[in-house]
Amino acid sequence: MSVDAASTFDQLSIRIPTDQRDAVLANFSALPQVELDEVAESDVYQIGIGAFRPLTGFISEADYQSVVETMHLQNGQVWSIPITLPVAEETAARIHLDDVIQLVRTDGVVCALMQVTHMYRPDRTHEAERVYRTTEDAHPGVKRLYSRGSVYLGGPVKVFDDERQDVFSPYFYAPEDVKAEFARRGWKTIVGFQTRNPIHRAHEYIQKAALETVDGLYLNPLVGPTKSDDVPAQVRLRAYQAILQHYYPLERVHFGVYKAAMRYAGPREAVMHALVRRNYGCTHFIVGRDHAGVGNYYGTYDAQKIFSNFAPDELGITPVFFEHAFFCRKCGGMATTKTCPHGAEDRVILSGTKVRAMLSEGIAPPPEFSRPEVVAVLMEYYTAANKG
Ligand code: ADX
Repeated sequence: MSVDAASTFDQLSIRIPTDQRDAVLANFSALPQVELDEVAESDVYQIGIGAFRPLTGFISEADYQSVVETMHLQNGQVWSIPITLPVAEETAARIHLDDVIQLVRTDGVVCALMQVTHMYRPDRTHEAERVYRTTEDAHPGVKRLYSRGSVYLGGPVKVFDDERQDVFSPYFYAPEDVKAEFARRGWKTIVGFQTRNPIHRAHEYIQKAALETVDGLYLNPLVGPTKSDDVPAQVRLRAYQAILQHYYPLERVHFGVYKAAMRYAGPREAVMHALVRRNYGCTHFIVGRDHAGVGNYYGTYDAQKIFSNFAPDELGITPVFFEHAFFCRKCGGMATTKTCPHGAEDRVILSGTKVRAMLSEGIAPPPEFSRPEVVAVLMEYYTAANKG
């Protein structure tokens, strides 16, 4: 890599608008290419728009060790999940330290440039144990970790704006756009909400309970890669579209999609989800039961307990905790284990697995669990999926 090329790379802004794409690529043609998987592709775009600030690239070995062991970058800033670029040994063999490389999307388009300042071989079992709290590959996040390359590339990236249009595009914003929207609406306190599931009434309850105490609600469902049995993101989007106008005060709600990959890392992912929403300008972030959990890998409130590891001003956002919420027939409304004195027999509680099984069998979840407008969207999807 010549000194000139390296300094040209340094001078690029982290986010390269589409109208500058050809000119920049002309300066960096004939570079080694690395193909990204769908997770790396979504990570690179999140880094480019500043959703993963303070990260400006895939992390170095020293930051990797520090994040895995302490949930902090070397410089002391909180970061809970290592954002890495794993490649196969054969790919690593083609790349030299300090090379600028092209990162190639799953559809073959170059989406970013990267200067490879670090190349290292991680202990992935240890990473799994620390980050996911399990080394079992039955855990979808761990399974993915083990299936990716065994050499990690680290270094800064410069990211071309994603030119693709899809059903999510009208709801996709960079952090500065969302901050500007909050300012336009005059909101000073904003609570962020993350989800990877179709909206149900417990979600709605905790969102609205949180909104009671702040100026605005930022509904920010994750629509990036998820495990195959999660409800597809476009179906979840339709569910939100179906109920927002009927049940939400739109002047107090901003809706935007979060295109990152789901890691299913429970507590550590809750911290990361909070940091990302801080970057989007939220002052508060909802963490309910088993946030970002999967199976029985995490205790119901582990994702809340983990926040006690951080000093109050260290995160730059305040977590708002909710206990398990449900409809209680005796209360005649939504409640949580904190506010409802009644027994299990009075509570309408359905697990995600149970709901998916019901829908697959053509059985509608009850209105106490899910709004009829949402049920209609889900039934339509499952009916079509069963026929297909
Ligand atoms: S995930 O991203 O955390 O995996 P999910 O849709 O399951 O998505 O949950 C979104 C948010 O709602 C999380 O903060 C979760 O803890 C919370 N949550 C989901 N269901 C409930 C419930 N019944 N009671 C309380 N909190 C809940």
